[in-house]
Amino acid sequence: EETFEANANVRVEITGKVALLTLNRDQALNALNSALMQELIAKMQQLEANSDIGCFVITGNSRVFCAGADIKEMQSKSCQQMLAEDYFSPWERFTAIKTPKIAAVCGYALGGGCELAMMCDLIYAGESAVFAQPEINLGVIPGIGGTQRLTRSIGKAKAMDLILTGRYMAASEAEQSGLVARVFTDETLLEEALFAAQSISEKGRLSVALAKEAIEQSMELPLTQGLLFERRVFHSLFASEAQQEGMAAFIEKRRPSFTQF
Ligand code: CAA
Repeated sequence: EETFEANANVRVEITGKVALLTLNRDQALNALNSALMQELIAKMQQLEANSDIGCFVITGNSRVFCAGADIKEMQSKSCQQMLAEDYFSPWERFTAIKTPKIAAVCGYALGGGCELAMMCDLIYAGESAVFAQPEINLGVIPGIGGTQRLTRSIGKAKAMDLILTGRYMAASEAEQSGLVARVFTDETLLEEALFAAQSISEKGRLSVALAKEAIEQSMELPLTQGLLFERRVFHSLFASEAQQEGMAAFIEKRRPSFTQF
């Protein structure tokens, strides 16, 4: 299933329960202007509300994932305008999307592009992937979570190094640092990301949603409270059909089928 709209900034292709979202603003290296942002979020919200999508994959093209926030759109704004618009705040609607999101990154993921990848639940990279927060070279700082998510993801030392120098980090370093879950060849990246997405989409929806939420809570809570949150969620899943099906399938030596939950 595919939708082709004239001038779409985001192309959507659905295979089974997986939606592939391809950033399609090639002339600006997929820079995130308001139109692209609104379109991406609206399409994901629509799919989440009206279809059976179990996982999103967000990708760019072979050379560029995304070159960041649109500098041309921002350049002439005043401080007052930025504050009044609460510029970048709509991205909170992106992170609020509960369905898991995988970023499949080849080429540049710069500034807002790196931040878009980090707003996804999981980053897979092709060997050509390059991550950076180059905002310092524009006289600003990251604004869609770079100082916060990068630091939580790869630690203060590397975050300082990247954000203060603006330097590029290759896929191998991004994997070693823990920003990226796995690196593949550029040619196999999308196939692998779609394979993982399909695998996730075949699990129980409730257990996937709660596992994701528990991991997210680990970024917010002290350990004792995080462990309690996890244990209570674990307990509550014993009221679910997914737990009955998953454990019965193990005992009966067959594959579980979570499709109805
Ligand atoms: N915003 C707007 N337009 C952009 C853009 C961006 N972030 N990145 C690239 N473009 C545009 C270029 O202006 C150019 O447009 P024209 O054809 O009209 O001149 C077109 O895309 C192609 O770009 P280049 O000619 O620069 O391509 P290149 O191959 O020579 O270089 C690049 C590629 C190294 C990625 C370079 O484009 C670049 O450094 N881009 C900016 C990266 C950046 O600074 N990103 C951070 C943005 S700020 C931000 O993201 C804030 C935040 O925290 C959210």
